[in-house]
Amino acid sequence: MCTFFYIFGTYRSLVSQKKENKYVLSPLPPPKSKIESIEILRQLSRSSRVLGELKGIARTIPNQKMLINAIVLREAKDSSAIENIITTHDELYKALSVKAAPDQETKEVINYRKAILKGFDLIQAQGFLRHNDIIALQNIIIENKGGIRKTPGKVLKNDRTGEVVYTPPQDFQETNALLSNFLEYYNLRQSYTEPLINLAILHYQFESIHPFYDGNGRTGRILNILYLILNGLIEIPILYLSSYINENKSEYYRLLNLVNKSDEWESWIIYMLKAIEATSKQTIERITQIKESLEATIEFVAQTASKIYKKELIELLYEHPYSKIEYVVKKMGVERKAASRYLQKLEGIGVLQSQKIGKEKIYMNVALLEILKRH
Ligand SMILES: Nc1ncnc2c1ncn2[C@@H]1O[C@H](COP(=O)(O)OP(=O)(O)O)[C@@H](O)[C@H]1O
Ligand SMILES: [Mg+2]
Repeated sequence: MCTFFYIFGTYRSLVSQKKENKYVLSPLPPPKSKIESIEILRQLSRSSRVLGELKGIARTIPNQKMLINAIVLREAKDSSAIENIITTHDELYKALSVKAAPDQETKEVINYRKAILKGFDLIQAQGFLRHNDIIALQNIIIENKGGIRKTPGKVLKNDRTGEVVYTPPQDFQETNALLSNFLEYYNLRQSYTEPLINLAILHYQFESIHPFYDGNGRTGRILNILYLILNGLIEIPILYLSSYINENKSEYYRLLNLVNKSDEWESWIIYMLKAIEATSKQTIERITQIKESLEATIEFVAQTASKIYKKELIELLYEHPYSKIEYVVKKMGVERKAASRYLQKLEGIGVLQSQKIGKEKIYMNVALLEILKRH
């Protein structure tokens, strides 16, 4: 705890001297009195309980890759929708399974998925994140090498009225210093306060530093899931707040703003904790449905098409909501002819539905897609 105040105390006093207008961002952390109210602690215990349950249930899924694939793509779609980048599940899965170039919006969502998986690899390999890692993630999403903002002029406006609601730090040095302070706090494993409260604080701070010209929202939401994993609250990247944020979007902006303007942390932290509770519940439900659907399909195929039945074949259909002959060839080590026969048989008994796109034929897992599209 002492080391903690040493690290952050020095910087805090330096920056507070510079406060000449109301929008100057303070480095982390905020005072404890602002972030550990009774209301916050009450909501914290509800959110932690459900999140713990999700962690346990995720462990019971035999093939983790199956979950990651399905749920990461849903998050990529939802988080991009917050930024008004809209695509459909069908477009996404098609873009992932055939070579044809997707439209711009679908491409950005696919980039977002790539960035989540890259972030997951990075933290598994290193156990922390660096400046350059964050830049690399943003770069995957936006596909340009703009890096940290260097030219001043960036302001956040209200979409409807055009009114400037927030001015992030304009000076390159200051932005970098704040980002270093953010990373120090992010990588700290002996917590200043509870990790879920930290998550809310960190997300606010990252969005307010707004280090990039574009992609700050999406990069920040990837940092959230990585933070949960780094702190052992979940093991694989399957909990995402974006569906909640989408449904409560004006609150998201209003509360971020309220911290900017009046240092009002309590309602922002409670909002984020509630998002964790709600999305954990949703994810538990979705995982349970996927698991039940997998089990039912295994049983059905074993009974009605016992000649082609293999457990790994059915698991493959749950790793890729859209399957192709080559996936079967690769996973099961069979000839194309056999692979094609398996897929056709599965279509014959109603488990799959094929679709021709250009020269390629893809097979949708009807039951799984239905679960993934559900709200
Ligand atoms: N008043 C505010 N204070 C801090 N951050 C904000 C505020 N209003 C919006 N934001 C953040 O800015 C994000 C949008 O920034 P942007 O760089 O366009 O990201 P993206 O391209 O991913 O949309 C929002 O998702 C939100 O997280
Ligand atoms: Mg944007």
